[in-house]
Amino acid sequence: TSNIKIAPSILSADFAQLGVDVRAVDEAGADYIHIDVMDGHYVPNITIGPDVVKALRTHSDKVFDVHLMIAPVDPYIEAFANAGSDIITIHAEAGPHLHRSLQLIKSLGKKAGVSLNPSTPESVIEYVMDMVDLVLVMTVNPGFGGQKFIPSQLEKIKRIRKMIDATGRDIDLEVDGGVNPEIAPKVIEAGANVLVAGSATFKGGPSEYANNIQAIRGA
Ligand code: DX5
Ligand code: ZN
Repeated sequence: TSNIKIAPSILSADFAQLGVDVRAVDEAGADYIHIDVMDGHYVPNITIGPDVVKALRTHSDKVFDVHLMIAPVDPYIEAFANAGSDIITIHAEAGPHLHRSLQLIKSLGKKAGVSLNPSTPESVIEYVMDMVDLVLVMTVNPGFGGQKFIPSQLEKIKRIRKMIDATGRDIDLEVDGGVNPEIAPKVIEAGANVLVAGSATFKGGPSEYANNIQAIRGA
């Protein structure tokens, strides 16, 4: 499991100490820092904007994996690119022109990700596989941390793993929502290589982050 990457979702961090917490999960062994951006429109919650991403940039050199739950998303892509995002992931359902949005992300020199909600079939990415660097399978409905993993998504993960392998390209297959040490082996078995974990990383406070990440990685 050495090729498995763990991406703590800072949605479960202490928002009053965000810089400190990002530094702490960086030192605790995080591979990516997963940043959940919500607009209160596409999803029923509001989190952070590009200025916060920019402020966090000074606290970690790890890959900033920015998950945009915004619609329309296109007007904000450049701001998140300039803020220091490494990967910008948008939802397939968040705009009428997925291909155009991905072109925009690539034109800004960033890695491009597409996220699929639990009800969204993998067929929506069929004709953009040549442009994506990451596919994010939502295993909860987006909006909140601490929800329960939806098992029907395992089949989707398997199908997307086949689609990725058929390209011969190095595309991350990321799973987001309800991942913990019990769920981790199932999603890895299905073909995922990046595991987002919010509540499972941050539970117990900073002294537990390294143990929590290791528990998921080793599972
Ligand atoms: C949900 C977010 C997730 C969330 C995961 O909309 O995209 O990244 O923070 O939290 P857990 O790991 O607690 O399910
Ligand atoms: Zn997320």
